[in-house]
Amino acid sequence: MEGNIILCGFMGSGKTSVGKRLAKKTGRVFCDTDRYLEKKSGMTVSQIFAEYGEARFREMEAQAVRELSGRNNMVIACGGGTVLQSGNVKAFRAGGGKILFLDVPLAALQERLKSDQKRPLLQKPNRREVIKKLYRERIGRYRRAADIRINAGAPTVVVVKRIIAKLGLSAEAAKKSGNS
Ligand code: S3P
Repeated sequence: MEGNIILCGFMGSGKTSVGKRLAKKTGRVFCDTDRYLEKKSGMTVSQIFAEYGEARFREMEAQAVRELSGRNNMVIACGGGTVLQSGNVKAFRAGGGKILFLDVPLAALQERLKSDQKRPLLQKPNRREVIKKLYRERIGRYRRAADIRINAGAPTVVVVKRIIAKLGLSAEAAKKSGNS
């Protein structure tokens, strides 16, 4: 049994796309905390924010983290705010997980998120400024929460290779057949 690999970072940093590919390459199960709680609640993240507010969403997110931390051998893509709650970081660590910060420069995030229509925190005027403010508030907290920082301002394939090299997972990945 192996501890979970947890991907944290700002919205648009590639946690889901990198996580899916990393899971496939290393033979792990992939899970996205947002999709997990959406499935459980039968509501989208946007609906939860709109009907119950962010505070309730954070409680549901923490519950999802507690549940997922009890499992093993997964790649878990967090939401952008998940590791900002210290209890979530503790739960991930207590479950034996390793937290990776996908570090993408602010300008690239602003570009990637410019047309987003799903993330409730971004549906405001002056999106570039909203992103900049949140990024500045959060960047230090992502760095502190993580065990390892990954330079993620690159295509998914490259980022996954960097993670596999950094975690020394190459031998394990090579054993998996059919994963090119
Ligand atoms: C959030 C990020 C979102 C989602 C929610 C709140 C955040 O996830 O959890 O909209 O606070 O940064 P992604 O990072 O996958 O977009």
